[in-house]
Amino acid sequence: MYKFFFRLVFSRMDPEAAHHLAFGWIRRAARVPVLRVFVTAVLAPRYKELRTEALGLRMHGPFGLAAGFDKNAVGIDGLAMAGFDHVEIGTVTGEPQPGNPKKRLFRLVPDRALINRMGFNNEGSAAVAARLAARTPVFRTVVGVNIGKTKVVPEEEAAADYVKSAERLAPHADYLVVNVSSPNTPGLRSLQAVDHLRPLLTAVREAADRAVPARRVPLLVKIAPDLADEDVDAVADLAVELGLDGVIATNTTVARENLGLASDPAVVAETGGLSGAPLKERSLEVLRRLYARVGDRITLVGVGGVETAEDAWQRILAGATLVQGYSAFVYEGPFWARSIHKGLAARLRTSPYATLADAVGADVRKTEETA
Ligand SMILES: Cc1cc2nc3c(=O)[nH]c(=O)nc-3n(C[C@H](O)[C@H](O)[C@H](O)COP(=O)(O)O)c2cc1C
Repeated sequence: MYKFFFRLVFSRMDPEAAHHLAFGWIRRAARVPVLRVFVTAVLAPRYKELRTEALGLRMHGPFGLAAGFDKNAVGIDGLAMAGFDHVEIGTVTGEPQPGNPKKRLFRLVPDRALINRMGFNNEGSAAVAARLAARTPVFRTVVGVNIGKTKVVPEEEAAADYVKSAERLAPHADYLVVNVSSPNTPGLRSLQAVDHLRPLLTAVREAADRAVPARRVPLLVKIAPDLADEDVDAVADLAVELGLDGVIATNTTVARENLGLASDPAVVAETGGLSGAPLKERSLEVLRRLYARVGDRITLVGVGGVETAEDAWQRILAGATLVQGYSAFVYEGPFWARSIHKGLAARLRTSPYATLADAVGADVRKTEETA
């Protein structure tokens, strides 16, 4: 039904306009109490075996919406209603900015993928912090806040920009993510180099502690799939060294080669980050590598090309305590989160693991035992 609607309506619209239309419906539905209760019952059934504790937070399940969908924290309740167990808002930058000129979002339908060069269009940390502060949540959802660098801020002053966002947003965040991996802000990804990342993460940690002395806001870093394996290891080691709470793997890729892309070459050639199905293999590989390095000392979040319950299950077995997705929501529609939950619960029940936590990283541990 959704696929028919997608073909008939959304696929003929500009992708960004389609996003705003669909998100508008989600937000409006969440404002109508009767509708909200009905939709939640249909789209967000709870499975008690999927209850998850991660980053010191209790969640209904492990599956959440990745950053970028709700950049300004305008639709958290609607997204919870759509079945996401946590919602990561942002990326929010220190100052408001319009992002790149349109057109900046492209569908690769035959590849079940997207290319975006949005460039952190958002209302800025002050406005988003004010919105979060004024929010009266309808649903008790975990809200992650993803922060990034304002484009006009020079790289040498990046830390101060992140610190500004952290000070304003940490009080409203269940967890905070330092995004150093979006390909659409020039120079951003060079902050992944350990020499830059160490002082940046230290400064953000201190800022969060200053802003919220009574609670330790969990701090994570989100990395790119395009890092070389040694650099993935270096980030993993740094995360352990700094006592970071988690690593999110991965953001979108700038790669286009050897992904078997079948879409129109002119679209494939668009500048930006590629997400969706073609990212699956590399994101899973990076996750596995991270888990092999850090084990359960750090919480890992698996994202990139997750389309099905089986994909989400594979991420858990590869070491993810939490799993996120974005692109497949566009292609699969409103029942997507529900089908992931249902499939995950079924897989857990027929697996050798008593709890979801027992399943986390089980595949990697098995490989290590036999090696
Ligand atoms: C249109 C779009 C905008 C995005 N914006 C952000 C962002 O602002 N910050 C961020 O950390 N990731 C952003 N992402 C990346 C996603 O959070 C996710 O890491 C990536 O899309 C891989 O997951 P997927 O294959 O399930 O889409 C964006 C992705 C898309 C498709």
